[in-house]
Amino acid sequence: MIKNICCIGAGYVGGPTMAVIAQKNPDINVTVVDLNEQRIAAWNNTDLSKLPIYEPGLDNVILEARGRNLFFSTQVDEAIDKADMIFISVNTPTKTYGIGKDMAADLKYIELCARQIARVSTSDKIVVEKSTLPVKTAEAIHDILYQTCSGVNFQILSNPEFLAEGTAMEDLNNPDRVLIGGNIDTDEGKQAVQELVNIYAGWVPKEKILTTNLWSSELSKLTANAFLAQRLSSINAMSELCESSGADVDEVAKAIGMDTRIGPKFLKASVGFGGSCFQKDILNLVYISKSYGLTEVADYWEQVIILNDHQKRRFSTKIVKTLYNTVSGKKIAFLGWAFKKDTNDTRESAAIYVAHDLLTEQACIAVYDPKVIEERIYTDIRSLHYASEKNNTEGVFVFHDAYDCCKDAHAIAVLTEWDEFKEYDWQNIYNEMQKPAFVFDGRNLLDQKELERIGFIYKRIG
Ligand code: NAD
Ligand code: UGA
Repeated sequence: MIKNICCIGAGYVGGPTMAVIAQKNPDINVTVVDLNEQRIAAWNNTDLSKLPIYEPGLDNVILEARGRNLFFSTQVDEAIDKADMIFISVNTPTKTYGIGKDMAADLKYIELCARQIARVSTSDKIVVEKSTLPVKTAEAIHDILYQTCSGVNFQILSNPEFLAEGTAMEDLNNPDRVLIGGNIDTDEGKQAVQELVNIYAGWVPKEKILTTNLWSSELSKLTANAFLAQRLSSINAMSELCESSGADVDEVAKAIGMDTRIGPKFLKASVGFGGSCFQKDILNLVYISKSYGLTEVADYWEQVIILNDHQKRRFSTKIVKTLYNTVSGKKIAFLGWAFKKDTNDTRESAAIYVAHDLLTEQACIAVYDPKVIEERIYTDIRSLHYASEKNNTEGVFVFHDAYDCCKDAHAIAVLTEWDEFKEYDWQNIYNEMQKPAFVFDGRNLLDQKELERIGFIYKRIG
């Protein structure tokens, strides 16, 4: 029976996932550890509005479980040694150097975890891959654990996470499925899988808990993200065709989505998908396919990324062209910076790419986002290299009020689909803008007819 869980990595996955596991299993102690002291301090903050990630409903779960059987700590060794089960939930970004640069997943953080587990462990452990990993990673973890630690038995499981940010608590409470891969050909492997099944069975119906072999589980995660992103690139490709042909992409999406074989979800055309995972996981899939010599498979999936890059670039080009081919010195107000609504995460957000293109054209960018802090926006901008010779945050202004952000702007670009944008007094915003006043709606969020009645020139996707 599992009594103590340790989760290495207190990020967007480790934090919410472990909070729910602790909430649903009050008899199990769950300790989430991280090297990042600031992040752990934020998880321990008594002011729940200061948690390191914003996720609707997370604060209540933290309030219930933290200090009871949920703990956040920087004492990594201690938590590993005490645990019967260890989740590895660290980041697996795209490699930025060496072999596989800009494609393969960088597994150095995973390997460091495995080595640390091996160094510290004095009792048997079940090690669970929670991070998204290339197929066959469990083999490498197995080798490291068994070759650097003797006298301890390890079972390795794959339990990929399918939550989406912004709906993480709902996704965790009511998952479509939980996937557990293990070494099911051995009794020890089967028993380890069962231990993890028991943890989820506290709240997830049994028929939704799938058990598979390790490699199927690892590959299913990459496949799920690839299929989801492929749907988005497909509808975004259609959005361009709609703009050329006079069709309406939302109408097309509705029409095809009513076919039960296609289904209505994940068909909203936009300025392009963002988030920390779709791009990195597809690039990883491309890399894996190439390394098996499967050129056509690799090329097929790479096209999803190429189309997404095109969609982001197309949006910024449209702004420049519509504003009479120059945005130099013009104020463009960005509504939204997060990669989607209901999160403060900005990783790979389309807004960053659009800002890059417009700053290259010497525009002034004013940004308002309800949840992303100013420091994060400036950090994202600093990571761009559009202007090496000067401070590249010059020309970027962050506002805490949407109306101030839009005042005197030549154009507004809606980059995130925050609900509050629909409720604004658009007449008031129009009155305070430069004329003609443009709205580029990268999320097809606003009421086109109403905005045009007010006097805006309204441009949407598709
Ligand atoms: P994140 O960057 O938010 O969190 C990872 C954390 O791990 C960081 O706080 C980092 O400091 C910590 N860390 C790294 N190495 C460490 C070590 N050796 N010891 C202790 N802590 C260490 O990342 P995330 O968004 O939570 O993603 C984690 C994994 O989950 C990735 O593989 C990702 O692909 C996958 N995933 C993410 C999501 C999502 O919505 N973000 C959803 C499903 C799966
Ligand atoms: C995605 C998957 O949905 C999760 O199942 C997966 O666990 C996760 O990646 C991961 O592995 O990290 P996430 O990136 O958090 O979750 O959010 P999504 O809801 O998938 O949105 C991704 C991007 O696609 C966002 O920029 C969103 O605005 C965009 N999107 C989504 C659209 O443009 N249209 C849609 O119809 C849906």
